[in-house]
Amino acid sequence: MKGIVLAGGNGTRLHPLTLATSKQLLPIYDKPMIYYPLAVLMLARIRDILIISTPNSLPSIQELFGDGSGLGLNITYASQAEPRGIADAFVVGADHVRGDDSALILGDNLFHGAGFPEVLRAAQQDLKGCVLFGYPVTDPERYGVAEVDADGRLLSIEEKPVQPRSDQAITGLYFYDRQVVDIVKDLKPSDRGELEITDVNRVYLEQGQARLVELGRGFTWLDAGTHLSLLEASQYVRILEHRQGVRVACLEEIALRMGFIDPDQCYSKGLELRQSAYGQYVMDIARSLA
Ligand code: DAU
Repeated sequence: MKGIVLAGGNGTRLHPLTLATSKQLLPIYDKPMIYYPLAVLMLARIRDILIISTPNSLPSIQELFGDGSGLGLNITYASQAEPRGIADAFVVGADHVRGDDSALILGDNLFHGAGFPEVLRAAQQDLKGCVLFGYPVTDPERYGVAEVDADGRLLSIEEKPVQPRSDQAITGLYFYDRQVVDIVKDLKPSDRGELEITDVNRVYLEQGQARLVELGRGFTWLDAGTHLSLLEASQYVRILEHRQGVRVACLEEIALRMGFIDPDQCYSKGLELRQSAYGQYVMDIARSLA
């Protein structure tokens, strides 16, 4: 399975924070926002990852991750000059995913919860069509919304409906089979001129090939698109990390635990950052798993 992190857009809702920097590089507590979605792809054992961002932001993101080899990944980059829609990721990234299953994640989404790797693993197996991930929220009108019947079968998908049919937001993580490139090729832009991911999901739904995995109450999904949600995401990570002494979305730790790198490589990565508590944590993890 191939991965895409979509980390473009103008971040206008976060102005002036994003006037001079990329939204996905803003901090969520102790690390850049883009660490969190990248961690999700890594937990899904995806190592071949395309990061899409604006021409302005790409050099900084590239500086952060390079070719990904330090994390045992193969990271490549592509530019999206204008925010032409989330589904445009499969126009920009067509060559990257062609002929393979793919996972698309939005660069401002944070997922956290026990057993998530198993949830991801189950969703990847025998992927036919698409798998969407639902999460109950108090403000579904801000999101794509899924309606399911009593057996959990998907009935409808709507983008930011004025009167939502349920409280299940469709999160910014999408698994697709290889059809997605052709589906997006045939897609017409919406009234606001974008290739809408909800329209892609609707095509799968009409083919009877869309499945919703409901991430339940014991799970956390946050997006960091506004000043308040950015602060709340930082507070969430701070509380967890401070209380438990473990780090959320520590990429070096995930790479080590998933077997992408060995303890020596992990330790060297920590050493580069040793002036920070983050670096010390990476070194400790490497030592404890050596
Ligand atoms: O976060 C989940 C929601 O994401 C879903 O529930 C919605 O169905 C989906 O449409 C999307 O809604 P948003 O209102 O958050 O979409 P937005 O246009 O803000 O784009 C989300 C992120 O994707 C944002 O961080 C910027 C990036 N993006 C967006 C577009 C349209 C790009 O990189 N390129 C783009 O062309």
